[in-house]
Amino acid sequence: MVDLRTKYMDLELKNPIIIGSSGLTDNVDSIKQLAANGAAAVVLKSLFEEQIMMEIEKNLGDYNPSHSHTETEDYLTYFEKKHHLEKYLNLIKDTKKAVDIPIIASVNCRTASEWVKFAKEIEKAGADGLELNIFMLPSDMKQGIDENVYFKIIKQVRMQIKIPIAVKIGYYFNNLAQHIVQLSRTDVNGLVLFNRTYSPDVDINAEKMIAGDSLSCEHEITHSLRWIGIVAENTDCSLAASGGVHNGQGVIKELLVGADAVQMVSALYKNSPALIKTVLAQLQNWMDKNNYSSIAEFKGKLARKSIANPQFYDRVQFMKYLQGEE
Ligand SMILES: Cc1cc2nc3c(=O)[nH]c(=O)nc-3n(C[C@H](O)[C@H](O)[C@H](O)COP(=O)(O)O)c2cc1C
Repeated sequence: MVDLRTKYMDLELKNPIIIGSSGLTDNVDSIKQLAANGAAAVVLKSLFEEQIMMEIEKNLGDYNPSHSHTETEDYLTYFEKKHHLEKYLNLIKDTKKAVDIPIIASVNCRTASEWVKFAKEIEKAGADGLELNIFMLPSDMKQGIDENVYFKIIKQVRMQIKIPIAVKIGYYFNNLAQHIVQLSRTDVNGLVLFNRTYSPDVDINAEKMIAGDSLSCEHEITHSLRWIGIVAENTDCSLAASGGVHNGQGVIKELLVGADAVQMVSALYKNSPALIKTVLAQLQNWMDKNNYSSIAEFKGKLARKSIANPQFYDRVQFMKYLQGEE
């Protein structure tokens, strides 16, 4: 019998499959189903920093809806109900009672403002960890993004809570590998590589902008494979791969390049929670076939630092390939 246990965010997981923050994790019934099918942990649907601030400002009597950010609109329609923060805390409490796997709360944030105090409530409600989805699109042509904000948020949130913290980031950084390594040396317990953004698309018949596909494809796995492989063995915290993990092969690939766990969302939307069982069986069969009895025996075997030809990670041009030299 192979041992699928792994450690992520300093949490002991019975296997490496975590269900990522999404509509699949916003209610107890769905989470119960995910757990029954073998999920090792879930990340709850995110609260937005702006939503927490709105509640704080409402309580202070100086709420101004124009303070809200574009990202909040989606959230507002979703959570446009009274006591949403209380509901979120109840979701944590109820889920903790309903399942026996770690429950990781999630906040989408952009600043280290007053909202961080709410992290304490999340901890008190019983969350096993907190994932911070920090994302800023570097689209402002006059002013770049202050990457120090990541470090400020981590510092402020850590001052509020003792439970493990993970940070979920995108890949729009000038010095991505360096940024990831520096983040891993803060007070975080895990990093999630990467978040997937809402993307615009164009309807050429109506000639108008539309929302792009919100679900990932299998080939999107290459982003996290490359970057986890590059930074694994250099980071001081655990790593979860997110984006394009759709089957057992994807999980095995991520573990081989050095991930401690994987997060899955789109594949479960496209299939059903029963997919988790299939993925676990695929992982188990592969380990059996290759005589691995634990994940530690092969995790990071193909990380950039561990292979003889690290150029597989570094190569970005197809020139030789196109010339038929390879
Ligand atoms: C419908 C939907 C809702 C999502 N909501 C959130 C969210 O609230 N917070 C968050 O951090 N990520 C959210 N995500 C992103 C996922 O957690 C995940 O990072 C992304 O889908 C990439 O993983 P995948 O390729 O397995 O889908 C959402 C994704 C989908 C498809």
